[in-house]
Amino acid sequence: MRKRIFLSPPCVDEAERAAVMAAFDSGYVAPCGPKVDEFERAIAASAGRRHAVALSSGTAAIDLAMAEFGVGPGWLVIAPSLTFIATVGPAWHRGTQVAFYDSDATLNGDLTRLEEALEDAKGVKTMVVSVDLYGRCCDYARLEKLCARYGAVLVCDSAEAVGAKSAGRAAGSAGAIGVYSFNGNKIITTSGGGAFLCDDDAMAARARKRSQQSREPFPWYEHSEVGYNYRLSNLLGAVGLAQLAKLPRFIARRAEIKAAYRAAGLRLVPDVPGENNWLAVALVESEARRDELLARLAVADIEARPVWKPMHMQEVFKDCRFYGGSTAEDCFKRGICLPTGSGMQDEEVERVLEVLK
Ligand SMILES: Cc1ncc(COP(=O)(O)O)c(C=O)c1O
Repeated sequence: MRKRIFLSPPCVDEAERAAVMAAFDSGYVAPCGPKVDEFERAIAASAGRRHAVALSSGTAAIDLAMAEFGVGPGWLVIAPSLTFIATVGPAWHRGTQVAFYDSDATLNGDLTRLEEALEDAKGVKTMVVSVDLYGRCCDYARLEKLCARYGAVLVCDSAEAVGAKSAGRAAGSAGAIGVYSFNGNKIITTSGGGAFLCDDDAMAARARKRSQQSREPFPWYEHSEVGYNYRLSNLLGAVGLAQLAKLPRFIARRAEIKAAYRAAGLRLVPDVPGENNWLAVALVESEARRDELLARLAVADIEARPVWKPMHMQEVFKDCRFYGGSTAEDCFKRGICLPTGSGMQDEEVERVLEVLK
């Protein structure tokens, strides 16, 4: 029977199985344990940060970033429109005003539009949640300078960009806090998971404490604030370590898949130096053509998707301010994310190309 081709499925084998069984046999079948600690050290080192706090999701990391600064009513959160809803979901739950900015040709947020938003936000407590979309880092130097000039807190949502670089700097290393996701569809996975990255010792300790119900160091359960249950389990830390060791291979394999798509004549969005090649994104001539190709791929049992639908086009955010023109909207209408799994075989790439030809 023909096997379904997924967009970006987990690529795991005996190494992950052995790691999880060893963690199981060690007796640490709990949210705390040596494999979570080791995973945190390895992730912090690869992100060029002093600290990584391993969490149950990337969304949890964004929520803890907002908790750290007390984001809530009276704040403004500014984010690129072309992203997954988790970038701003925690802001919505906190009753915070949200504004969006358009993309540039890289698909990442257009920093000129961000500057317009920051100009309007003068005098308001502001957090910018910048996104490294589809594994392609923003210009961190420019972003940091801009946020510093306007006194905005910068959070770097690198959920999709684990292993990528911005001018030699690791994804997630910009701003006060970086965010990684290890969800099942990401370039490395813990089945579900994420990381809160920062350089400040006290901030890391607060995030870790909040991720464990903000329990005070007493023999009984003592609380002076209300926290969250966001900690990653020790078993998943073991899976993450096995995955992290394979990251360079995964990045290279995804680059090969993209090269094969390009060699066959597909128009992928231009590469950004240092990207992790998470997903191959093709731009086709029209929305109708996008839908036609998606339908053909679906019939052939191949998973493909439109690019993220911009947040300013979503019903739930229809009253939010949007800075920009039609770039993000155009990418949504003409963009297709194609299968780019790290374990994808050459025959499977051929199968995708056969349908698209
Ligand atoms: C841009 C972006 N931000 C945040 C997240 C949230 O990560 P998670 O699914 O681990 O909560 C994701 C992915 O799912 C994402 O793509």
